[in-house]
Amino acid sequence: MARWDKYWDDDAYVARNWTEPDPDIMRLTPVMQGHQVRRVLDLGCGAGRHLFYLSQHPFDVHGLDISTAGVERCRKALERSQRSATVQVADMHNIPYPEGYFDWVLSVQVIYHTTAATLKQVIQHIRGKLRPGGFFYVTFPPVDNIGPESGKEIEPRTYLTEEDGEPLLHHYVTADEIDELMGGFTLVEKRLDPRETRDQAGNVTRRFRWNVLGQRLP
Ligand SMILES: C[S@@+](CC[C@H](N)C(=O)[O-])C[C@H]1O[C@@H](n2cnc3c(N)ncnc32)[C@H](O)[C@@H]1O
Repeated sequence: MARWDKYWDDDAYVARNWTEPDPDIMRLTPVMQGHQVRRVLDLGCGAGRHLFYLSQHPFDVHGLDISTAGVERCRKALERSQRSATVQVADMHNIPYPEGYFDWVLSVQVIYHTTAATLKQVIQHIRGKLRPGGFFYVTFPPVDNIGPESGKEIEPRTYLTEEDGEPLLHHYVTADEIDELMGGFTLVEKRLDPRETRDQAGNVTRRFRWNVLGQRLP
């Protein structure tokens, strides 16, 4: 995906928002260790902020991303810091691991760049890659974030914009929709929390995000 390749090749872009692990991943790491989690997949690992953090803990860490530049960046940084994780270019619609392989899949700000139907399919695909009792941490944008900059609504709550000539979809979710999307999981956490992002000029924007932790039912 050209857009993400361009971003992950840009050191200043990465430094702005994508080096510190998300507070939830840091909070959940000891919780997951308490559940004897071993195999972890960072789905849409980007520039690798969670891969580096997780590889400092006793996990077997895997990452995948559709962006070649992101995966290259992760590999180089892991090598430089002598940390171990398996990283590859792959699409979230076709996760190249056996069924039931992972104890924990995390996907931070990735899977909602699609339509509602595809989002539902991807979540069930991820579910299949988890062992029964395994955990899925995922984030979604809430409907309250829909604004004039969201673009054109092409179906309920799915918006299309163009960035650098490339189409970009966002599916925004309601609280009830999360329950429906996460079919086959027990919802352990479903929180609407603020997150800050920094633009090129250093301005900080505060927006809310759904942070969800599900546990795979048998
Ligand atoms: C907003 S970034 C988040 C990166 C990372 N999860 C983080 O929190 O630092 C979104 C990432 O999703 C990846 N992505 C988008 N569509 C994807 C797909 N179909 N399969 C795998 N990765 C995808 C992009 O390449 C990009 O690296």
